[in-house]
Amino acid sequence: MTTRIGRVESAANRQLSEPLPIAGVDRRSRVPLYRQVYDSYREAIVERRLKPGQRLPSTRALATELGISRLPVLVAFEQLLAEGYCESHTGSGTFVASSLPVEPLEPSIAGLSEPAFEAPRRVAPGPAVRAQPGPPWLRYGGPFSIGQVSLEHFPRRVWATLVARYARSTDPAITRYPDALGYRPFREALAAYLRTARSVRCDPDQILVVSGSQQALELIARVLLEPGDVAWVEDPGYWGVRRVLETRGARALPVPIDDEGLDVEEGRRRERQRVLQGRLAFVTPSHQFPLGSTMSASRRLQLLDWARTEGTWVIEDDYNSEYRYETQPVSSLQGMDRAARVVYVGTLSKVLFPALRLGYMVLPPDLVPHFAGARRAVDIAPPTLLQAALADFLTEGHFARHLRRTRELYRERRGALIAALDATFGDAIDILGDHAGLHLTVRFEGDPPDVAIAERAGTYGLRALPLSTLCLEETCRGLVLGYGGLALEDIDQAVRDLRSAIDETEAPEAVL
Ligand SMILES: Cc1ncc(COP(=O)(O)O)c(C=O)c1O
Repeated sequence: MTTRIGRVESAANRQLSEPLPIAGVDRRSRVPLYRQVYDSYREAIVERRLKPGQRLPSTRALATELGISRLPVLVAFEQLLAEGYCESHTGSGTFVASSLPVEPLEPSIAGLSEPAFEAPRRVAPGPAVRAQPGPPWLRYGGPFSIGQVSLEHFPRRVWATLVARYARSTDPAITRYPDALGYRPFREALAAYLRTARSVRCDPDQILVVSGSQQALELIARVLLEPGDVAWVEDPGYWGVRRVLETRGARALPVPIDDEGLDVEEGRRRERQRVLQGRLAFVTPSHQFPLGSTMSASRRLQLLDWARTEGTWVIEDDYNSEYRYETQPVSSLQGMDRAARVVYVGTLSKVLFPALRLGYMVLPPDLVPHFAGARRAVDIAPPTLLQAALADFLTEGHFARHLRRTRELYRERRGALIAALDATFGDAIDILGDHAGLHLTVRFEGDPPDVAIAERAGTYGLRALPLSTLCLEETCRGLVLGYGGLALEDIDQAVRDLRSAIDETEAPEAVL
């Protein structure tokens, strides 16, 4: 029930010469009465229905008019006084503050519906940043989704204990503003792991903890690239790199991939031909994304040579090197670098789970202050709590155990997927890449249109990623199939659905 007071002209309110254009109160509302009175007056003042200097009714008169007790009116007026909307003159009442500007505020503030000025110019979001749902392969979850991992073996109880250990802590090391590089014990644990497992040359002071490797790529673009600069990118390659180059206004120089990884000679040839000089090169040497090749030793040395002689940088994205099934994990490129030109990037998105949003960079020592400065400007530092829990997760051996178990699990899934693909497609497909990672890439005989197939596969809930969407200048068609989140018992059905999607795709050249 709303009591309106559109005209407040009672005897008790004779001081007013004009009706007050304020709203009434609604007793059934969950909004407290004082708040309703306050909001009404505040709005009337902001919109200039009440002018500076104008007298407000007495609290007694207003309470009577509204049919409520005086207390909420008193509280509302006190609030208006405290916030400077009103002023009180002893003995003569409450007035709209005379210091308020007479003209209404800019419409952008007073009338929120209408923008007062044109939005400032800014970089338009690239295709990959546009709103969901988008094509099926950009949606998370479902068979073949490349971002999914298995939590089957994740030691949830241990994890909960470790997180609780620090959630209860009032230790300043856990609660104060953190070091921009990240929580030191976590960096120490990471450095020890990277030195032994990845042959990375580092100490904890070179490590910058980031919110996933995507943030590392963004910081790299921010610190090492100017708008218009050129960066070598793998073709086909990771869309996350293109995304940051676009937002930085930098240009990509696509360099083709073969069985040995990035074709460094071809990159140099393109630089000469196009009269360009790359500032840095983004590479995935341990397991090229998406084709799965391992960069050969000679290509690694060529790339390091390029960086050393040209004074450029190599960005090593080591996103899933922990998973190799037939040999030991290959050592990092960073470990071969003697000229401090490699920025190493790692992530916990694959080995643990992506919602952690935690990754790390190993920086050449002279770059550390620049990246720490950029990090402070962005979000100061990553949250300490999870880093502290993870430091213990690493040092107490849970991480190594989890890796061992998941390596077995993914090896099995990979084998089952290959068997199902072979059984269903026989010689009509080519499975690319080494025995590594959490995805594999397939090419089909006759090169049928991969985007149309992936769209069709989306109607079965499949999240196959079309290879052509990862290409810049190269032309290649195929599908990238993630198996990290694909349970063994679902593999056959997923492959059967894929077969149906291919059969149903209208493509004259799809002759499988
Ligand atoms: C090549 C590559 N790098 C990095 C990542 C992981 O990114 P993030 O650490 O931001 O989750 C992925 C995820 O799929 C990837 O494919």
